[in-house]
Amino acid sequence: MNLHEARAVAEALARRAGDVVLTYWAGPLQETTKANANDIVTEGDKASEAVLVAGLRAAFPDHGIVSEEGAGNPDARDPEVTWYIDPIDGTTNFAHGMTYFAVSLGLADARREPLVGVVFNPVTGELFSAARGQGATLNGRPIQVARTESLGRALLATGFSTDKARAEQQLVRWRALLHASRDLRRLGSAALDMAYVAAGRLDAFWETGINAWDLMAAVMIVREAGGRATDFQGGSERLFTGQEVVVSNGALHDELLRRLNEAG
Ligand code: IPD
Ligand code: CA
Repeated sequence: MNLHEARAVAEALARRAGDVVLTYWAGPLQETTKANANDIVTEGDKASEAVLVAGLRAAFPDHGIVSEEGAGNPDARDPEVTWYIDPIDGTTNFAHGMTYFAVSLGLADARREPLVGVVFNPVTGELFSAARGQGATLNGRPIQVARTESLGRALLATGFSTDKARAEQQLVRWRALLHASRDLRRLGSAALDMAYVAAGRLDAFWETGINAWDLMAAVMIVREAGGRATDFQGGSERLFTGQEVVVSNGALHDELLRRLNEAG
């Protein structure tokens, strides 16, 4: 598996899909709901997915594809490697004309270990990218996590599931970490939040009820930028299958895990 090639293809496709997404962002959108009334999908998500899936199938006909809006690769013959793609991460921001959303593509092996990650915000033109052993970059320049050593000086971010029952537990954690940190953000795109941790803009991020397509790319970028990405137990077991993630600059990780688990 040539990771340089996979990374280059993913970067080019993210940019191409981003261009398409921007043509929808400016105008009125058709949206439909999915799991619940707050879980929406738009024409922009579907158009982006079509570009990404067609491009990946052309470049890597044997690779598996798991995409949020359901498209895949029925011809995949190499289950050793699978792309996890989110055509728009931050669809609610996108649908409300806000600027904080991204196209996200992650490649993983059969054990769901990330190999390549690309997160692209088409509005700002910021492209975060990494491949295993190659380091992480923002628009081609190397990035690293922040050096913050105390939670009290840390800027954190989190996300809320559209499932409001799960949101109640999240509010308990929100309260605990708001008091323990410098401040807390709910920005609306998990992939971008984690890319911001990789770039040292945020110190840590956590969420539950989150899917592999939201995570795969950004976890690769955080790890290659020197950060840590785990489940709530500090391992990897539930990271891509148990819908939970904690990413940080590393130094804050154990304390953050302890406070999240203590809060509930
Ligand atoms: C959502 C965003 C949001 C997070 C949700 C995700 P989507 O992704 O990443 O920040 O809190 O859990 O589902 O639905 O816009 O792709
Ligand atoms: Ca999405």
